[in-house]
Amino acid sequence: MKRFLLLLLVFNSVTALPQQAPQDEEEDQPRGLQALFARFGDLYQENCAVCHGINFAGAVQGTPLIGTELIHGDSMIEITRSIRDGYADKGMPAWSETFTGIEIQSLALWIKENREGMLITDIGLNRDIEIPTSIIQTEHHALRLEVLIDGLDMSFSIAPLPDGRLLLTEKSQGLSIISVDGEQSDYIKGTPRIYQAGPSGSLGGLGWLLDVTLHPDYEKNGWIYLHYSERCEDCNAISRETKRPVSMNALVRGRIRNGHWVDEESIWKAPIDSYTSMTDIATGGRTAMDPEGFVFISVGFKTMDGNQNLGSPHGKIHRIHDDGRIPDDNPFVDDPGAMATIWSYGHRSPQGLEFNAKTRQLWGTEHGPRGGDEINLLLPGRNYGWPAFSKGQNYDGSEVKYGRADLELELKDIEQPVVDLTPSPGVSSLVFYDGEAFPEWRDDLIVATLKASDLFRVEISDNKFVRKEPLIENLARIRDVEVGPGGIIYLLLEHATGSKIVRVVPAKTDAG
Ligand code: HEC
Repeated sequence: MKRFLLLLLVFNSVTALPQQAPQDEEEDQPRGLQALFARFGDLYQENCAVCHGINFAGAVQGTPLIGTELIHGDSMIEITRSIRDGYADKGMPAWSETFTGIEIQSLALWIKENREGMLITDIGLNRDIEIPTSIIQTEHHALRLEVLIDGLDMSFSIAPLPDGRLLLTEKSQGLSIISVDGEQSDYIKGTPRIYQAGPSGSLGGLGWLLDVTLHPDYEKNGWIYLHYSERCEDCNAISRETKRPVSMNALVRGRIRNGHWVDEESIWKAPIDSYTSMTDIATGGRTAMDPEGFVFISVGFKTMDGNQNLGSPHGKIHRIHDDGRIPDDNPFVDDPGAMATIWSYGHRSPQGLEFNAKTRQLWGTEHGPRGGDEINLLLPGRNYGWPAFSKGQNYDGSEVKYGRADLELELKDIEQPVVDLTPSPGVSSLVFYDGEAFPEWRDDLIVATLKASDLFRVEISDNKFVRKEPLIENLARIRDVEVGPGGIIYLLLEHATGSKIVRVVPAKTDAG
């Protein structure tokens, strides 16, 4: 019975506000919830996969449940109704006799979550990318795209080196170096262990290599930071109960010497109890460095709760010194119930993170539930509201509510996004432009998107949104954007047919 009570808490946190449960109950939650989620997965595999496919992709007797519009609607209410009542004439049994109401709702949520999580292989991933060869004229600059390298595995991050080469992470392959002519090195040996992405199979999507970032003094000290998700088996209550591996964000730094990853130091790790079996698509997984020697990392919602709970690492931006020490001036260092590394909280899927060295501000992007993508100025100790507040819609189609009396959470308690992007373009990474190649863009944000496949420029003044200009439209899923030497912009394009890196360079008409 306790399980179902906990389940009600999940629904609450998805459709309305998080419960501020007493401390001891909170601590108990993740384990219970994760076990529950694994159970929904099993319910699905045992009862539904035969017709709808183990990866929801459909089978002979049933229709696909992800990667497509649903025939009967995809709100929580509609999916719940489909499962409960079935479509007997079409071969979909009614499940109301087999499962309790709450189990049916859980299956609906499970499908909903997987639909959301499948962003990564969503529409667009399999489409052929065509890189335009003609000059693109934007408001201030003409530009051209050059393919640096093609045919990469699913990639996450690039980091330009001072000499014009690039570091690259491929999620299930590893770290490599791309030369100025677009040659890929062997994978660097000895980086943290990672695992196959898998076609969303039950063990796929846990244990990926995520962000690669250079220390601001890289040229002197050679430090490279790797953000990955560490996978383990039989290592906490969830993994033992579900007999499945679990994973969680972790940060190390090291150096590359003769093709080897050396001098590795652990910089940040989460408590083992917070490792979950939810796919790493929800990890956030970005790193940003403040030239004064602080590191920020974004950790997404690899569990449905926790985002509003300061005792949990999930749904947070964390801040540590470049060697992993906890800064004395972190906002919650003196709060015994909070993780001392927390910088800001209430984040959902913070996929972009960027420190503006000029203004000494941290900025980030994140995905809202449905619509409500955000660009945020990330201030210490502030609450970004998820799942309590978002400009997006709830899964059941209702507006996300805030300010319920019993929670004492008011609009003023929630930091509002500087830029609200609805309908959501699937915003990914962002960078403040500070280069020479496109002088009119200096100090603007260059923002990449996945679903919308666009690159756009955002002007911000006094921390307020001024305007937005699309620079390149309908290109590809852009996973990362970085500025290299000379102000050349690098885009990491993510596609099933092979990820690519392209350079955005000024076109001749502009330069001459
Ligand atoms: C014997 C095959 C079969 C099984 C088993 C089955 N389904 Fe279905 N299901 C179907 C078919 C066929 C449809 C399409 C109905 C239609 O075309 O209107 C469907 C439709 C659905 C829909 C609506 C999809 C839409 O596009 O709107 C949902 C949701 C769904 N099933 C969930 C489940 C769940 C959850 C289970 C397991 C508890 C399950 N199904 C088990 C055959 C099956």
